Amino acid sequence: MAEYDLLVKGGTVGTAADTFAADIAIKDGKIVALLDEAATNLADDVIDATGKLVLPGGIEGHCHIDEPSFGEAKLADDFLSGSWGAACGGTTTIIPFAQQIAGMSLREAVDDYHAKASGKSIVDYGFHLILSNPTDQVLGQELPALIADGYTSFKVYMTYDGLRLEDMQILEVLSTAKTHDGLVMIHCENDHCITWLAEQLDRRGEVGAASMGVAHGPAAEREATHRAITLSEVVDTPVFIVHVSSHQAMDQIAWARSRGMPIYAETCPQYLFLSSDDYSQPGWEGAKYICSPPPRDPENPAHLWRGIQNSIFQLVSSDHCPYSMEGPGGRKQSAGELHFHKISPGMPGIETRLPLMFSEGVMKGRIDLQTFVAVTATNAAKLYGLHPRKGTIAVGSDADLVLWDPEREVVLTNDDLHGNCDYSPYEGRHITGWPVLSMSRGVVLCRDGKVVAPKGHGTFLHRGTSSAVKKAA
Ligand code: URP
Ligand code: ZN
Ligand code: ZN
Repeated sequence: MAEYDLLVKGGTVGTAADTFAADIAIKDGKIVALLDEAATNLADDVIDATGKLVLPGGIEGHCHIDEPSFGEAKLADDFLSGSWGAACGGTTTIIPFAQQIAGMSLREAVDDYHAKASGKSIVDYGFHLILSNPTDQVLGQELPALIADGYTSFKVYMTYDGLRLEDMQILEVLSTAKTHDGLVMIHCENDHCITWLAEQLDRRGEVGAASMGVAHGPAAEREATHRAITLSEVVDTPVFIVHVSSHQAMDQIAWARSRGMPIYAETCPQYLFLSSDDYSQPGWEGAKYICSPPPRDPENPAHLWRGIQNSIFQLVSSDHCPYSMEGPGGRKQSAGELHFHKISPGMPGIETRLPLMFSEGVMKGRIDLQTFVAVTATNAAKLYGLHPRKGTIAVGSDADLVLWDPEREVVLTNDDLHGNCDYSPYEGRHITGWPVLSMSRGVVLCRDGKVVAPKGHGTFLHRGTSSAVKKAA
């Protein structure tokens, strides 16, 4: 019997700390050795990685899969199609949200998502919780028990009817998180500003896609971001600010971090590669870009890139929230009319996140390979309690590896993607560098754009304490 199950041979390994040549030996799904030059007869199987970069599988820390939506709208991806897209785009671990619906206990919400994911997902998965009803029972019993079971992060919203929490409630959630070592993620937008502006726009009949950027303007995001920082300060516990879209909000985070406050944050490809200009595409075309917060003015992305370069952002996550345009559950039918506030917000991106970041970030010299690995994998593993099992290439870590061909030229088209959404906001973009093989725990998931893994390969991940929480302790 050979010493190893698999050798990944001849590649250039990239981690968040280093780039080096190594052959990677894998046994029982784990990396067991990093070797200068390994003889091929040491392993049952060999993958030739000559000319390729071998990077840790991406970790998607923010995605919505098979989650209930407002009204008639229905997310396009379930755990099979969503995980196909993830794997083919170089992501081998996902952490979607398990949303508590009114009247449902947190545990019921989690059980529901286990039933949705199990036997379907081809990538490993954990769940963040969404707290929409933080009663005494939830905060006193259910949440502490779930944190202990490995659901160590949870999102709260400052906007959206049915999800929005008042500041007092957020303070209570933060206090529970502090006591039980959880990490609170906050959607920061000032609900009253949005509602008031939306009413003004509605009265004037200005209801096209472009109004999304007006109603959800940067001031509402900036104020709420600063408020979240204040709530964190009052309770003295870290927070993670999700999907930061504007430099105005980013500046608040930079301000907090410059004072040593434990504020962590992510931005998303839609804020780096899209802008308010996209809303001016005619009719329903502009509605493809509706998400909240929305893409900002064309000068905004340059500021956000500086935020990535200066570690104001620890993560770049997709916020994959795919609504098709056509068909039942799609935007046209579910909204009934082209009205920015009747259209469920969100856009697809789980498969395009890494290729866009690699091409526009690494290949165009905006970030180095180490930063790419850090913001797409390693930092997510640390912040969400999965490191060093996930997010790195080291002896003892899961063999979640992605082979990148840095020279592969691709013109993005939704027809070649693997999710169920009927459009990509990045249709026609030219990409340099592509993930040509993804593996999870030593099992190849997809090769050259073809899924080869059996459905249900993915397994649930009980997550540990966030690095942010440990640091603050
Ligand atoms: O528009 C967005 N971001 N949809 C997903 C839900 C959320 O707030 O993350
Ligand atoms: Zn959100
Ligand atoms: Zn989201």
